Amino acid sequence: MDFKLAESSTLNIMAEQTLSIFYYIVLFALYCFLGWVLEAIYRSVTQRKLVNAGFLHGPFLPIYGLAAFLVIFLQHVFQNWHFAPRFVLCGLAITAIEYMAGFLTEKIFKMTLWNYSECRFNLHGYVCLQFSLLWTLLALVFAIFVHPEVLSQVALLSDSFVKTAAVIFMFYFWVDFTFSVMTLAAFRRSVAYLYEQYFNLSSIEIHDNLKSFQRLLSAFPHLNKYVFQSINQRIKLRLNSFLKPLKEKIILSMAGRTPLEKEYHDAVEDILRHEEFLKLKDFFHHNSSIYDHVLSVAYLSYRICKYCKLDFRSAARGAVLHDFFLYDWRNHDEPDLPDRKFHGFAHPSIALTNARKYFSLNEIEEDIIKKHMWPLTIVPPKYKESYIVSFADKYLSSKEFLDEYKKRIAKHKIKPKGKNR
Ligand SMILES: [Fe+2]
Ligand SMILES: [Fe+2]
Repeated sequence: MDFKLAESSTLNIMAEQTLSIFYYIVLFALYCFLGWVLEAIYRSVTQRKLVNAGFLHGPFLPIYGLAAFLVIFLQHVFQNWHFAPRFVLCGLAITAIEYMAGFLTEKIFKMTLWNYSECRFNLHGYVCLQFSLLWTLLALVFAIFVHPEVLSQVALLSDSFVKTAAVIFMFYFWVDFTFSVMTLAAFRRSVAYLYEQYFNLSSIEIHDNLKSFQRLLSAFPHLNKYVFQSINQRIKLRLNSFLKPLKEKIILSMAGRTPLEKEYHDAVEDILRHEEFLKLKDFFHHNSSIYDHVLSVAYLSYRICKYCKLDFRSAARGAVLHDFFLYDWRNHDEPDLPDRKFHGFAHPSIALTNARKYFSLNEIEEDIIKKHMWPLTIVPPKYKESYIVSFADKYLSSKEFLDEYKKRIAKHKIKPKGKNR
């Protein structure tokens, strides 16, 4: 089998030739480069633009070099094993390296360079089954086809050339690694700066700040997520700190309303519980019942009078009773009751008669009920509270009429059309 032949030739070279450490450094550099080519192609295709993959500035991905050497080592140590378990072991070992690299980057730099969280069968987002299977396949291709060929070619190179190349690579690697770590640290500082100053910076300044890390952001798209998450968190914190006092203010004002509600309720409670008064619920008025209408007029009048330091109690009671007439003013055939067109003039007196019948009224309350239709009823109110109830009544009546009118228009519009056929 060709696979076996290739494997055995690799092992023979390794066994027969005792290559110096410099050859292994060159091999490592080559595998880092091949890994970079592979990753750059994959990233450029998936991101639909040219991407310089990896965190080094140069075209090398050390994690691929490490994985390649691990595969070579395992192939050598377990050469007597069956073909299949040997490659499963290689896949597992590469997965372990990937896990460690992801874990350490997150621990050391507090950043996520890749994340498989959205893939099925992932482990903490550092590794996933889909990619582990891919790594196993790559290990197979590497051990059988790539490594024997590369090794045989490198073994042919002269000692002096390999030594020079290895030294240059080591020097370059040390410099690039140092700068790359510094870039990563600077990136973290920059995100922290943006996090702090986000609201003081213009969008151009924010853009410029991140522009210097463009390569890093395109090599590791998850860093973009990291930036957005950090900034979003900042916005959330700022919004919360802004909303908190507002929320407290609203809660306070709601709480502050409670005593007012109680005060209002205490003022009109006996009327609201009276069975004769409760009959107002049965008569339609504007857009609901007379009962609902008088209650809204009473509460608004009470609030205004309270604010203006007037007799809010009388205002509330007078307003509750201002339309205390127990008939449907639009449609009735009771001979004693006012005709529709005279209802506006007549109902204040009827309401006053009913109110007097069931409740004891003071002068202000009587004036409110009697004159709430002013200026339709000629005599003007005597008290400020009466003017306020009259105003509240007109305002809310118009509102109720308009709401009812809108409702009817809307109903008319959605009426299904007859069939044309
Ligand atoms: Fe009225
Ligand atoms: Fe009214």
